[in-house]
Amino acid sequence: MIDTHCHLLPGLDDGAHSMDESIAMAEYAVANGITAIVATPHVLTNFNPPRKLREVTVQKLQKKLDQRNIPLRVYCGCEVALRGENFQSLDDTLNLVDSKVILIEPPWQDQGLPMDSILFDLQMRGFKPVIAHPERYEYLSIDVLRRWVERGALLQLTTPGILGHWQGTSAERSRTLLREGLVFLISTDAHGATGRVPALREAVKQAEEWCGISQRALVDENPKKLLGIEA
Ligand SMILES: [Fe+2]
Repeated sequence: MIDTHCHLLPGLDDGAHSMDESIAMAEYAVANGITAIVATPHVLTNFNPPRKLREVTVQKLQKKLDQRNIPLRVYCGCEVALRGENFQSLDDTLNLVDSKVILIEPPWQDQGLPMDSILFDLQMRGFKPVIAHPERYEYLSIDVLRRWVERGALLQLTTPGILGHWQGTSAERSRTLLREGLVFLISTDAHGATGRVPALREAVKQAEEWCGISQRALVDENPKKLLGIEA
C-alpha cells in the first residue's frame, strides 16, 4: 500500500520530531503493509520548509531506512494550507513527487473562500488538486464535494476520519463519500510513531465493509497512476 499523506520527515513541521521518530514511523508503516510514503510536511502555515530542504531530508531518511533494511520508499511532497488569497502564489515546488498533483488543505472553518474558482484557477494552471481530509470539513457539503470531483478534483480520505477518531461526522461522511464512489485516495495523515500513526489496513477494511467491494485501488493503483511511482 502507498500512503500519500504523512508527516514523516523529522523536524520540518508538527509531525516526527526526530530522525529516530521518523524511523519508528517507517517501521510501523511497514508492519502495517505500507511500502511507500509520500512525505507531506505542512507548508504555507507556521511551517514552510522549502522544496530543497524537503528533498534533502527525504534523501537522508531514505539512506537511514536502507541502512537498516527497512523496506519503505519515501517520496517528496507537502500539504499546502489554502488560506485567503495565497493560492495565487502556489507553484511547482509544492507538487507531490514529480507530478502536477498538489495536496490542498482547505481552511478548517468556512472563511468564505471562493473555492470553486480557486480550484478552477489551479486546474487552468495545470495543477491536479487533491483535497486532504474532506470528511473533516462539515461546512463542505457532500454536494459541493461531488461537484468538485465532477470538475476534476480528487478526494483523499484519512484513516482517523474513516475510523471515527475525530469528533463530529467524519466517519459518516467518509462512508457516504466512499459509497458514492467519490474517493480517489485513502491516506494516514500520520504525525508520529504513537497517536496518529501511519496505518492504512484497518481503514481500507472499514471502507470495504461499507462498500461491499475491494477498495484496495485507493491505496495502490490510484496513487501509482496519479503520481507515476512504483511501490
Ligand atoms: Fe496532514
